[in-house]
Amino acid sequence: MKTETTIQGLSASLNPARASRKMIGFVPTMGNLHEGHLNLVREARKLCDVVVVSIFVNPIQFGPNEDFDNYPRTLEHDSHLLAEVGCDIVFAPSVEQMYGNHPRLTNISVGEITNDLCGLQRPGHFDGVAVVVTKLFNIVQPNYAFFGQKDFQQLAVIKQLVRDLNMPIDVIGVPITRAEDGLALSSRNGYLSEQERKTAPTIYQTLKTAETDLHNGQALSDVLEKIRVNLTDAGFVVDYIEARSPSLQKIDQFDQDVVLFIAAKLGKTRLIDNLQVKYSS
Ligand code: PAJ
Repeated sequence: MKTETTIQGLSASLNPARASRKMIGFVPTMGNLHEGHLNLVREARKLCDVVVVSIFVNPIQFGPNEDFDNYPRTLEHDSHLLAEVGCDIVFAPSVEQMYGNHPRLTNISVGEITNDLCGLQRPGHFDGVAVVVTKLFNIVQPNYAFFGQKDFQQLAVIKQLVRDLNMPIDVIGVPITRAEDGLALSSRNGYLSEQERKTAPTIYQTLKTAETDLHNGQALSDVLEKIRVNLTDAGFVVDYIEARSPSLQKIDQFDQDVVLFIAAKLGKTRLIDNLQVKYSS
């Protein structure tokens, strides 16, 4: 496995693959990797000849009160994990390399779907994601790019961006990797106390109960309210519980596939999760 820290170095490493028309798969990350990230790499490995993983903590997607400075940077450990799952090239540029060569005037805004759900509390966050992902796509020029459904809104934003701007990239959404008790893997889970960690799987349990309730014909609004009551009773402070279509349009009835979204705080830790409920099954 190679590690490249410059755009030029990465191009030099990828040029032979490009020349022989090999399929390039790309997994963008901010590092501090866990099994959720590694499963994206495994998916890329299945579909592509060459797998590139970027590790870059992107300053422009963090708000002023967010944890950019304290975001865990664990490149050495990440590199060991990536080598084990068959990554070919790690791209780990500096902020200088990505943003330092000239003042950036271009912004990318993917419209109203970015001012919903997590975007409401994080103004500008998805613009920052759209800019860095576009830059990384142009630098890596992958055939396939892999994103987790854990960040369902981010995945929807990237799919919209790629479609709107005719980027020649297949965006693949990878299912959420969960712990055995159902908790969606996230580096934030490490902030939970022992007691909180025991409570945290309630989020997934309420989503699965909601799925059954919807299939049993309960009204969507009642189902969302029941989630709220269950989470509040378990000790969560709910940020939002929402239902959207898979392309993030607002819906008020279960008459099509629906994605249920939860963001809730347990102590100081904010957890997010979602579940897609099929209409037909
Ligand atoms: P990061 O939070 O490091 O996540 C990188 C990728 O891993 C994202 O596509 C995310 O959805 C996926 N992921 C994280 N936990 C997962 C889980 N439990 N199951 C499945 N996939 C999971 O998301 C970002 O970085 C950044 O915003 C980025 C896209 C790299 C742009 O800076």
